[in-house]
Amino acid sequence: GEDIFRLREVVPTTLQDITPKLNEMRLIKSKEELAQIQKAVEISVQGFKRVMRKAKKVSNECQLAARFQFECQKRGAANLAYGTVAAAGNQANTLHYVANDARIKKNDLVLMDAGCEWNGYASDITRTFPVSGKFTEPQKAVYDVVLKAQEAGIKAIKPGNTYEDPHKAVLNSLVEGMIILGLLRGTVADNIQSGAYQVYYPHSFGHWMGLDVHDVGQYRKKTDGYRKFEPGMVLTVEPGIYIDEDNEKAPAHLRGIGVRIEDDVLVTPKGAKVLSWQLPKTVEGIEKLMNEPRKHRSGGQKARN
Ligand code: GLY
Ligand code: MN
Ligand code: MN
Repeated sequence: GEDIFRLREVVPTTLQDITPKLNEMRLIKSKEELAQIQKAVEISVQGFKRVMRKAKKVSNECQLAARFQFECQKRGAANLAYGTVAAAGNQANTLHYVANDARIKKNDLVLMDAGCEWNGYASDITRTFPVSGKFTEPQKAVYDVVLKAQEAGIKAIKPGNTYEDPHKAVLNSLVEGMIILGLLRGTVADNIQSGAYQVYYPHSFGHWMGLDVHDVGQYRKKTDGYRKFEPGMVLTVEPGIYIDEDNEKAPAHLRGIGVRIEDDVLVTPKGAKVLSWQLPKTVEGIEKLMNEPRKHRSGGQKARN
């Protein structure tokens, strides 16, 4: 203290909070960080595949959540990035459903949102699949609207675009689909303006992901609106449509259906790279995964798990 001043040493005179600087550093991932995220995503993809392949034998949501954790842990990922959502049927319409303890009915869709960590880095994936291995027609109709919106969102992520571009792409696509499904009446523009769609899509399209599942970093700059995407940013794209069974304004055959599809993407110079691409997400791809016979391993070994 005092001695330093007497010696006329140059000492810092201001105290600065480094959080904003650290947050910016965390927003653009290094090669090493991306390797951790990719590993977390790959293990989660494996976990999902195992869960989905065995889903037909499952009678309670807790079996899905427990199996996911088991499959991750078995691959060295001890921690989950957040509490798993394993929501069957109408439970999918509770956004942060964590009870995961209900019986699953045979025609239920399951909305599963889960992800493990690797060296502290998160993954965050959602798939919605029919526990029977086969989508019903109404489920398929809603699903395809969400999928189309998710793909439109992913396509709108590239350097130079901002958070607003995928937001608008997702919203336009979802609302257009909601009108075709009979959930909304009128024009796309009117429904976006009035916010009528929010009954069915009450959240945003995605968030930064990294050391935290909802990672740090500003979405907007203080003065000039939304910031531009840059290579090295990682975010989720996760539109959904949620039609509560008690929503009497919705067509009866769609009530109780809740669908979300979530992938993790990296911004590259060429556009969004889907890190979780190996996990099927089309109706066809999901049904195939859930119904394909177990592959036999070479050497006459009994297949494990
Ligand atoms: N699992 C949390 C989220 O999707 O944001
Ligand atoms: Mn997410
Ligand atoms: Mn999620």
